[in-house]
Amino acid sequence: GLAVAPIAQSHLLQHARWYSVSHLSVHERIDRKRNAALVGGGQKRIDAQHKRGKLTARERVELLLDPDSFVEYDMFVEHRCSDFGMEEDHNKDFTVFGGSLSGAHAQKICKIMDQAMMVGAPVIGLNDSGGARIQEGVESLAGYADIFLRNVLASGVVPQISLIMGPCAGGAVYSPALTDFTFMVKDTSYLFITGPDVVKSVTNEDVTQEELGGAKTHTAVSGVAHRAFENDIDALLNLRDFFNFLPLSNRDPAPVTECQDPSDRLVPGLDTVVPFETTKAYDMLDIIQGVVDEREFFEIMPNYAKNIVVGFARMNGRTVGIVGNQPKVASGCLDINSSVKGARFVRFCDAFNIPIITFVDVPGFLPGTSQEYGGIIRHGAKLLFAFAEATVPKITIITRKAYGGAYDVMSSKHLRGDVNYAWPSAEVAVMGAKGAVQIIFRGKTNQAEQEAEYVEKFANPFPAAVRGFVDDIIVPSTTRKRICRDLEVLASKKQTNPWKKHANIPL
Ligand code: HXC
Repeated sequence: GLAVAPIAQSHLLQHARWYSVSHLSVHERIDRKRNAALVGGGQKRIDAQHKRGKLTARERVELLLDPDSFVEYDMFVEHRCSDFGMEEDHNKDFTVFGGSLSGAHAQKICKIMDQAMMVGAPVIGLNDSGGARIQEGVESLAGYADIFLRNVLASGVVPQISLIMGPCAGGAVYSPALTDFTFMVKDTSYLFITGPDVVKSVTNEDVTQEELGGAKTHTAVSGVAHRAFENDIDALLNLRDFFNFLPLSNRDPAPVTECQDPSDRLVPGLDTVVPFETTKAYDMLDIIQGVVDEREFFEIMPNYAKNIVVGFARMNGRTVGIVGNQPKVASGCLDINSSVKGARFVRFCDAFNIPIITFVDVPGFLPGTSQEYGGIIRHGAKLLFAFAEATVPKITIITRKAYGGAYDVMSSKHLRGDVNYAWPSAEVAVMGAKGAVQIIFRGKTNQAEQEAEYVEKFANPFPAAVRGFVDDIIVPSTTRKRICRDLEVLASKKQTNPWKKHANIPL
């Protein structure tokens, strides 16, 4: 501006003076609004939140994310409801109207979800809310529905994780339920469709919030939540670890990190882990931890349907999903809950390009009226369906029993298993020797002899190996080395299913 003519200069000065005045006042207004947003519902409510062992939304975000990485959107958005004497609100945590959802609040969530889907970024929800903002009526219900729709459209596109850190009641529970993983904080979080008072008036049951929808209920009984953590800090730090297993979207490969654990490491303990007696139990977690990088296994639903074990680990730095029957619990048989638990996990892995490694020791599906009346046929079909439709790399290791329909279901060669191994202790048959002999030699004498013959014929890996239904019989201690090598080869696997609008998995 040095070369400008005097007259033009004075004009410029005038302009600048006008500009700087309004500029300053806008600055002041910006600062004022920002500061108001930062204090949320005020110090008294922040203190109350802390007194319960809970953090504010911003404190939580700070713990969860890498330092200085959070870029906040919509700090200036205000709710539009002036009924019932409501003032402005800025941020949306529990200190502001109990974190209840207004139309504007929902609009902020939807904006971020839309962008996350567009760029391929996971969505994490930290829930601590009194639910629909009662003063806004249908506007807040509409807001929830707008979020639900986005949860559904984002399913299988970007990973969605919910961390429940306070109340989550009524229809609001359906957003977490639609996401891939729901984690809870012990003693301070709960999820239910209707609270204890409504339960009392409708069913006359006396139940506390904790019993009805606390972390223990949902991680051990209902299967609604996938893990529970001790407190806000523990939960957020675990969520950080968990997040590192996941790809950013369905267009990205599963992450590969630097790995210190040698991919050809032998695991001598595996040669003796399976007991000589076929009915004796052992812990499948010993095998899983022995095989994966640094023994690090992030188990999903560790307290629900314990007869199946699922979770994430790394093999030579690459994320894998692990599914294993657990001989320690109900002999590792498949039942309704374990089938559903396994199926949902397999489908997540398949949607997000995470190879699946399956350890099989399964005596079959659990018999009985309670299972049949509960629909084990359609629930067991879910696990079968999930393994069959999955096109990610699939590696299967039969450590001991693979009996009956459960043999087919557990990522068998027939369901497009890419590499299927048997350990020398493997037994692949329609059923165990005792039951089999009772059926085919009913009422005949010398059953003991027949049993011995049956065991000789079927209680070994050869019938499967001679037919190519397992690709090799391997020394257990070499299992890690074999899997790491196979994953390398399978990294370029390309397989597609026939075109369809969507499949019709038995629900
Ligand atoms: C507006 C709410 C609110 C809500 C809480 N607040 N819930 N404001 N709408 N839904 C306000 C309170 O008035 C209070 O304001 C502040 O948030 C903190 O609430 P407290 O009750 O003091 O906290 P606490 O004792 O911890 O109890 C938390 C609570 C309880 C259990 C969540 O507030 C509660 O039961 N709220 C109603 C829950 C509910 O029924 N929501 C509707 C569910 S149905 P002040 O100013 O005093 O701090 C639903 C349908 C969704 O959500 C449908 C989707 C399809």
